[in-house]
Amino acid sequence: MTDVSPIRSYISGFLKPFIPTATASFLLFAPGAASFAAEPEASPSSEIHRIADIFAPLSRPAELLLEPTYLVLLICLGIFIVVMGVLVYVLIKFRPRGPEDHLEEPPQVYGSYNIEMAWTVIPCLIVFVLVLVSARSIVEIQDQPMPEDALKIRLIGHQWWWEVQYPHLGIITANEIHVPVSSKNGPPRPTHIILESADVIHSFWVPQLAGKTDLVPNRVNHTWIEPFKTGVFLGNCAEYCGTQHANMLLRVIVQTPEDFQKWVENQKQLPSEPKDAIAIQGKKDFYDLSCVSCHKIDSTPAEGVFGPDLTKFAIRQTLGAGVAANTAENLHAWLVDPDALKPGCYMPDMKLSPQQLDSLVAYLQTLK
Ligand code: CUA
Repeated sequence: MTDVSPIRSYISGFLKPFIPTATASFLLFAPGAASFAAEPEASPSSEIHRIADIFAPLSRPAELLLEPTYLVLLICLGIFIVVMGVLVYVLIKFRPRGPEDHLEEPPQVYGSYNIEMAWTVIPCLIVFVLVLVSARSIVEIQDQPMPEDALKIRLIGHQWWWEVQYPHLGIITANEIHVPVSSKNGPPRPTHIILESADVIHSFWVPQLAGKTDLVPNRVNHTWIEPFKTGVFLGNCAEYCGTQHANMLLRVIVQTPEDFQKWVENQKQLPSEPKDAIAIQGKKDFYDLSCVSCHKIDSTPAEGVFGPDLTKFAIRQTLGAGVAANTAENLHAWLVDPDALKPGCYMPDMKLSPQQLDSLVAYLQTLK
């Protein structure tokens, strides 16, 4: 678990009663706090980088952004100090000193060539420097050549979840991106991410891994990550995209190359057939109900593409794109009324009977 700075936790504790956690965490640049409800049991190998601190980059493109971020903050801090300094000086120096102050008008001064030149030229120079610095960073990150064998991911934004495709591996999953860890000294292992949208504009943002890049309908954008640390990195959609924008959460699970390979092998295999009577009934219910029109499970008649692919649903850490941990209890609550967990989401309340609920939960939990 990464350190939670006392100041940040103090502010977040202070804000909690007043605004939704997601908003508080957004204000604090800490999307991680938004998905606290979706915490799975963490083992040491799945350390969760909960507070997504933009000042603690753990991936190459995020590192490339750190220096310009400090420069911009320093310049802004300088401007803040100068403006506030002048303001305070004027407030003190020209404060009213007695009733006679109100009897005469202060001297009226019109036009000062020197001052006007200063407040025109200096801001122009500052903006020019900022433009150059930003342009350099953008070019440096965007034009980074990707190795031929770089892992490729196609990430498609939907209201309100993420479709994750590995075109070269034939894997489709949702809301969780698995990638191998890279190292600063060893061979670079970047992951090239192709960003698209199925509906409206979304934005990919995993603060410790890379800056924001939008997912725009009818346009293909690109970004890349190259994490130097294993663990779970929390991210979210950073562009308002409708009712459940705040619950469009994303996890990047960075693994050792061996663990990543194991995950890939598992994803390529079909889920085992359910063995319990209740799960077998659940499979039947799944196909009898209209679940199949929105969800896909490989090698079954479920071919829907409107909702997330459920082929390996049971090994995901969360459900509903991060609104809750993927446990039997939460899955049950989700199926009873998805709108209660994620108001406005497009998964309908299927009015399932208690038997159908139990059997569907049992079946979905076999999808590993
Ligand atoms: Cu998708 Cu905000």
